[in-house]
Amino acid sequence: MSWREHPDCPPPGTVLCALSAVPDQGGHEIVFGTHEPLRLLVLRQGDRIWAYENRCPHFSLPLNFDPQVFVTLDGLVMCAHHTAFFRFEDGYCVDGPCRTSALTAVPAHCKDGQVVLGEDR
Ligand code: FES
Repeated sequence: MSWREHPDCPPPGTVLCALSAVPDQGGHEIVFGTHEPLRLLVLRQGDRIWAYENRCPHFSLPLNFDPQVFVTLDGLVMCAHHTAFFRFEDGYCVDGPCRTSALTAVPAHCKDGQVVLGEDR
């Protein structure tokens, strides 16, 4: 099932979070729903943001172990379970058990200090 088909997926134009909620060089999770929720991850470097489904392509687990704790290093975010590293810029896995796979990109942009869900590309 694509993230867009998730029953709790919000429509394009939904504000995901304030830009200030996303730590610079870090990540912030937004969760929609409660039963098998849709988990989105926003990554930030300065004024640039990227959004992905927060689901490791390896075992389909969230990248974080504890709420809102994302391990990042030099534009990479690490899966806390088996230490795969994914690039902020394209979600590509550069190291770990799911090397050469990628996070699922979610269209998002910044507008007036808010991170907004976009249309499909
Ligand atoms: S579940 Fe993410 S690297 Fe294994």
